[in-house]
Amino acid sequence: MKILVVGSGGREHALAWKLAQSERVQMVYVAPGNGGTARDARLQNVPITDLHALADFVEQEHIGLTVVGPETPLAGGIVNLFRARGLKVFGPSKEAAQLESSKDFAKAFMQRHGIPTAEYQTFSELAPAHAYIDAKGAPIVIKADGLAAGKGVVVAMTLEEAHQAVDHMLADNRFGDAGARIVIEEFLAGEEASFIVMCDGKNVLPLATSQDHKRLQDNDQGPNTGGMGAYSPAPIVTPAMHARVMREIINPTIQGMAKDGIVFTGFLYAGLMIDAAGNPKTLEFNCRMGDPETQPIMSRLKTDLLGVMEHAVNGTLDAVELEWDRRTAVGVVLAAAGYPDNPTKGDAINGIPAESAEAVTFHAGTTDVDGKLVTSGGRVLCVVGLGDNVKMAQKQAYEVADKIHFEGMQFRRDIGWRGLKH
Ligand code: AMP
Ligand code: GLY
Repeated sequence: MKILVVGSGGREHALAWKLAQSERVQMVYVAPGNGGTARDARLQNVPITDLHALADFVEQEHIGLTVVGPETPLAGGIVNLFRARGLKVFGPSKEAAQLESSKDFAKAFMQRHGIPTAEYQTFSELAPAHAYIDAKGAPIVIKADGLAAGKGVVVAMTLEEAHQAVDHMLADNRFGDAGARIVIEEFLAGEEASFIVMCDGKNVLPLATSQDHKRLQDNDQGPNTGGMGAYSPAPIVTPAMHARVMREIINPTIQGMAKDGIVFTGFLYAGLMIDAAGNPKTLEFNCRMGDPETQPIMSRLKTDLLGVMEHAVNGTLDAVELEWDRRTAVGVVLAAAGYPDNPTKGDAINGIPAESAEAVTFHAGTTDVDGKLVTSGGRVLCVVGLGDNVKMAQKQAYEVADKIHFEGMQFRRDIGWRGLKH
């Protein structure tokens, strides 16, 4: 079978890499892909991003299944379009993707269905937003309603920061339409975890747990980023916590969507905050896999991913039992100089070792220019190491990271630290 993976990041490289391991897969196309997917003999990049043109390509090439990585094409209705043309695709419809594409939609949904989340209000006018902040005090969290590539959230530790964030979004239009409406919510303290499941419209199949590292520097210092590393499994999600999250968050979400007339298919990612007393709340929903969480999660998946995807598009996920590598996977993002604000591009990348049983390097912001690999984005690579515990997995990942070179490369040395603590 031929498969198409839509996207160009580390998440899509990891999904395509895993799909290509299936004996029944003839070719995995990646649209548009990156330098890493270009170099892998089992993968082929396709320079198409227009959704109609992608559907044409799928018909022409007789591609049996499409898997969508990023939120933008999902919010743009790629799944609706493909289904209308009779093409098999795994992902949420445009309507279901609102759980991610509108924070106001997600918050109102959670409130309506009793799903634990931070207290909030939505604003589109300056004066009531400022008044709400003064009434609630700091710390407080300001979120652009729409998609803002991970940059639309300000965790304001002071009133001044909070008021400034409101002005940036509502007055200065820093996020365009995405910030024309904002959600202001209660600050939640605790430990975060990424809880990702697959849904076929009826059945829910949880993937391995993971934890992301959002801040740029060690010890969770510096600005927020799209994610500087992730590891799996996340020990904070004990079996009891897992059962509770399924019962209080995931199942009510799928059922609530159905009650509201929306069948949820695709990956559902609940970003959790677990407080000191062990109560989980939903920080956000994503309607896709996490990046970089996908890289360690796919590195641990032993089950044939094509088979799982086929069950997912056929509504038979209840027949699937996933098998995971018992080892821990630690994924370290190697980012470009200037990331996250102004990443430099065009620097030569050298020293990436071949994949082994203990480590694999996934590409994100890389391009192959006449056989030379250069940087082309903020998060350039993600090195995943596997080991019997967090420390051993870290050792494998950092041994590889230390062999790789590009100008101004930055990475955290402490990916997985919360796992060491548990
Ligand atoms: P989001 O895109 O909504 O996941 O927000 C990005 C990051 O901001 C999260 O991963 C958290 O680290 C932080 N964050 C979001 N909402 C809150 C909240 N209510 N309290 C504390 N931190 C938050
Ligand atoms: N790693 C966070 C995200 O994918 O949204």
